[in-house]
Amino acid sequence: MPSLNEIRSTFLSYFEKNGHEVVDSSPLVPRNDPTLMFANSGMVQFKNLFTGVEARDYTRATTSQKCVRAGGKHNDLDNVGYTARHHTFFEMLGNFSFGDYFKEAAIPYAWELLTRDFDIPADKLLVTVYHTDDEAAAIWKKVAGLPEERIIRIPTSDNFWQMGDTGPCGPCTEIFFDHGDHIWGGPPGSAEEDGDRFIEIWNLVFMQYEQFEDGTKRDLAAQSIDTGMGLERIGALLQGKHDNYDTDLMRALIEASAHATSTEPDGPGNVHHRVIADHLRSTSFLIADGVMPSNDGRGYVLRRIMRRAMRHAHLLGARDPLMHRLVPALVTQMGAAYPELGRAQALIQETLKLEETRFIHTLERGLRLLDDELKKLAEGAPLPGDAAFRLYDTFGFPLDLTQDALREMGRSVDVAGFDAAMAEQRAKARASWAGSGEAKESRVWFDIAETVEPTDFLGYDTEIAEGQVMALVVDGRAVDEIAEAQEGWMVVNQTPFYGEAGGQVGDTGTYLKPEGAGLILDTQKMPGGLYAHKVQPEKAPLAVGDALELRVDHNRRRAIRANHSATHLLHEALRETLGDHVAQKGSLNAPDRLRFDFSHGKALSPEELATVEGEVNAFIRQNSPVETRIMTPDDARAIGAQALFGEKYGDEVRVVSMGEAPTGKGIDGRTWSIELCGGTHVRQTGDIGLCVILGDSASSAGVRRVEALTGQAALDHLVAQQNVLAEVGEALRARPEEIVSRVRTLMDERRALEGEVANLRRELALGGGGQAGPEPKTVGGKAFLAQVLSGVSGKDLPPLIDAHKARIGSGAVLLIADMEGKAAVAAGVTDDLTAELSAVDLVKAAVAALGGKGGGGRADLAQGGARDAQQADAAIKAAEAVLEG
Ligand code: ALA
Repeated sequence: MPSLNEIRSTFLSYFEKNGHEVVDSSPLVPRNDPTLMFANSGMVQFKNLFTGVEARDYTRATTSQKCVRAGGKHNDLDNVGYTARHHTFFEMLGNFSFGDYFKEAAIPYAWELLTRDFDIPADKLLVTVYHTDDEAAAIWKKVAGLPEERIIRIPTSDNFWQMGDTGPCGPCTEIFFDHGDHIWGGPPGSAEEDGDRFIEIWNLVFMQYEQFEDGTKRDLAAQSIDTGMGLERIGALLQGKHDNYDTDLMRALIEASAHATSTEPDGPGNVHHRVIADHLRSTSFLIADGVMPSNDGRGYVLRRIMRRAMRHAHLLGARDPLMHRLVPALVTQMGAAYPELGRAQALIQETLKLEETRFIHTLERGLRLLDDELKKLAEGAPLPGDAAFRLYDTFGFPLDLTQDALREMGRSVDVAGFDAAMAEQRAKARASWAGSGEAKESRVWFDIAETVEPTDFLGYDTEIAEGQVMALVVDGRAVDEIAEAQEGWMVVNQTPFYGEAGGQVGDTGTYLKPEGAGLILDTQKMPGGLYAHKVQPEKAPLAVGDALELRVDHNRRRAIRANHSATHLLHEALRETLGDHVAQKGSLNAPDRLRFDFSHGKALSPEELATVEGEVNAFIRQNSPVETRIMTPDDARAIGAQALFGEKYGDEVRVVSMGEAPTGKGIDGRTWSIELCGGTHVRQTGDIGLCVILGDSASSAGVRRVEALTGQAALDHLVAQQNVLAEVGEALRARPEEIVSRVRTLMDERRALEGEVANLRRELALGGGGQAGPEPKTVGGKAFLAQVLSGVSGKDLPPLIDAHKARIGSGAVLLIADMEGKAAVAAGVTDDLTAELSAVDLVKAAVAALGGKGGGGRADLAQGGARDAQQADAAIKAAEAVLEG
């Protein structure tokens, strides 16, 4: 009996042998379709190949595609556990031809695989074709030798497959298996077709049209093939089972659930085990593909599935978190086919455990409330909407969880009442927004948030994604269209663009649509979880409803990521080097630089800066992976995550860790940096490349600011510095390593020369160097020597005064230094005369004549200064007047 894993391999290798490229399943979150919640069939990732918009280097492909049908149009959630063939998660096997083969080959391939490789008896198979498709009917007759009555013509949309309201489509042929007349049911198209006897196993779609919004269809340029076969169904058939949950893979999960709850797999809890087995698969695969539980969009679908599983675990008597303990069994079963499961195992387990831990208490209290409410009701009466709403609002019971709980009692919920209660709460919340004094322009965002779901941010995993325009704003008003070259803001349902937050600047980039394109100049977060993109249409206007390809400026984002991750390494290096008082006070992660403000009382020494820079770069070279987890804020703090003090965090936070710390260092003795952070980061620390600290400055009292560069910018900076060094070396005619000693020598020489120059000037002033010194004249009966000097400064004057006094023996000296127009004045009186004549009076008189004021000192030596050296003659005259008395 082949296992599901073997069946999957047989399928893929059959088509590989027949020239098909084996392509990996695309992620559950579609990157190329903004309208689709989750991948729900194999062709989703090939949509653009069918329409000819995209081409690849293969024209035949085969896949085993992960599919989720929960939430959105295809919602099987409510039936899971109670039926034989409903799943929220399943695998779709498919083969595809993109303009290569068509019906004539697709039918023989399917027939050969089923009857030869899978060894299914031909007489157990029958097919349907679209009623007008004579060609397909003829091929079936020829290839399979099926009689007319086993080629059933169906006139309805059952045999015309459409991806959605628009897109590639075409007639299809479906292959059915007859489980035998011991099971009730009739062939397709008959009145008993809903019975379980004839089960559809494979759908072959002959893609030949493209459907447009206005209802018209156009022939595709090339006819193509898209097929889909549920692995669980074909598995049940090949394993001789009638119920998908009896296949080996599902059975292993059911047994793991039974084992973990010490219950019987086939006992009264059988439905619960089936729900748990199914939900374990969908939740684990969704988390592995980047979906996190939340209160809106995809995250809310995930949360609903998780909580539904948890209630069933509770019904089995589990009082401690259960789901996370089952993940290893799933990885054993499916990890080889889907390596992403193993890679994300820790994240999946932690996320499940966290959600379960948080929900377990409210689950019990909510169930008690539900019990109390039911007691008040008449037999079989529906649960009032406001009670269901209270369960939702206070206890986190999604509506479908309440419905699931009531289903077992044959009761329902008043859904209209639930919706009304929800609408009333929204209205109240809106009223309080209006009262909170928000800026007038932001009112428009609150209005939009009323009708538009929060934007789904895809940018942790991708930089290109499609999004649908949900709202447009120009000058604070909602509009339907933004004209070419006009600027405005756009909200899309999902985006890879990061909205400015936590110091990280918003992304910029471009958008494309078939008939136009435009710039995205900025991205900001708005109330209600909306991401607003500042747009400028370049070609063709932008309208609400447009589907756009959104492309983040990759190089800019890469630089921002490197700076953000480097900031985390820097933060920790500062704490290690300076002490635990270092706390983040602010940061900027722009494409061209990073800035980090932190509490620290004094400037960093060059040694401290070098240590910090060295440490950051050591962790960059370590090239260890950057890990992201989701936790409660309390758990995050418990493991030592750095958080911004006073910042308000939600119920769940992203925790980013990086670097393997040397023993005894880092946050927990193992990990270098752990921070609460919603930003985008590099995958490996080595992606940062290099970090250069530019310097440290004061930001405000007690707060220092370090600025740094990473990657190319850091390298450019170093190269520029090297060039300066090379120029200096050239000017000095020195090799780089000689520059410092050469500069020191030059400085010493300069100091020595300055001293020599000063001495020479003094000598010159005194008549040295072969010149005769100035001779004193007699004024008021005393010898008086006056001189105007240039090339000397005020501090050179006193020694000159002393020298002149010694030379003349008895008398007065007045020296005026002309310093580029300004004057320094000094006067001296020999000791024998100080009783009758003061140098201070001489200086004051001279200074006044030079247009200045003051001057002072002792009777034997005084100094002063003035602005106007031109009046030197007048100053000498004024001093003479003092001498004359
Ligand atoms: N796309 C087709 C389906 O999902 C094969 O049934």
